[in-house]
Amino acid sequence: MRGLAGKTGIVAGGGRGIGAATAWRLAAEGAAVVIGDIVEEWAIETARAIREEGGKTIGVRLDGTSAVSQADIVGAALSEFGGLDFYHSNLAGGTEGDIDILNCSEEVLDRSFAINAKSHFLATQAALPVLLERGGGTMIYTSSGAAISGNPLQVAYPMTKNALHALVRHVARKFGKQGIRANGICPGVVMTEAVAQHLTDEYVSSMLEAIPHRRLGQPDDIAGAVAFLASDDGEWVNGQLWHVNGGSLLRD
Ligand SMILES: NC(=O)c1ccc[n+]([C@@H]2O[C@H](COP(=O)([O-])OP(=O)(O)OC[C@H]3O[C@@H](n4cnc5c(N)ncnc54)[C@H](O)[C@@H]3O)[C@@H](O)[C@H]2O)c1
Repeated sequence: MRGLAGKTGIVAGGGRGIGAATAWRLAAEGAAVVIGDIVEEWAIETARAIREEGGKTIGVRLDGTSAVSQADIVGAALSEFGGLDFYHSNLAGGTEGDIDILNCSEEVLDRSFAINAKSHFLATQAALPVLLERGGGTMIYTSSGAAISGNPLQVAYPMTKNALHALVRHVARKFGKQGIRANGICPGVVMTEAVAQHLTDEYVSSMLEAIPHRRLGQPDDIAGAVAFLASDDGEWVNGQLWHVNGGSLLRD
């Protein structure tokens, strides 16, 4: 993609799943990538595997809910690769116990907001000053179709993803004139390791029947969209929430 080679980016929650696929894709496009994950071994192992194929990458421990850890990963991009051009804030977790509104505890709500909303806030606070100083850059966030689908089975997670949409629009509106772009991607069902282990064959069949596509999502489907947004091909895309879902939600 245009202008991606030579850029440096961070992928938060890049140890596995969509984040790991994105790190692979970005490295294949010639970007240098700092992979951060709370499971440090996953970050290090993914980075090692990419380096073995010739990519420029390092893996570091990141606790996305900590401002200090977010500052450290931005510092790692600067010290290892000499700059930062984009940050893919992709991590998520803490959904255990997130049921419907009558069955979700306050503790689960707080945990979900810390991991799934506050982490993106802190990522932005850590990365933006560096991007602004360089004259521009890109924030890309992973949201979810669950933000807008009216999910009867979870309450906290969709709430956090809607909070993320507000962050995307705030950053785009406030800093667009200073060369900052902020966008979010809302995946449909993507068959990552984490998702695959929770889905029964019946559920997969019912989803396949409902979707106007021949298959469910793969991590590479999202990685391609992130790479586009990080590249100069995505130059005029700002403040958007893109649904990448095989057509499972049809909307403007
Ligand atoms: N897979 C799907 O079907 C799907 C659908 C919609 C949205 N999403 C979104 O896509 C993103 C990636 O999902 P995935 O399916 O690849 O999940 P995943 O669980 O495979 O990956 C998430 C990564 O984030 C890391 N992480 C969790 N908490 C962290 C923290 N506090 N600090 C740093 N790292 C942390 C995990 O260790 C993991 O490696 C998430 O934002 C998720 O909400 C996924």
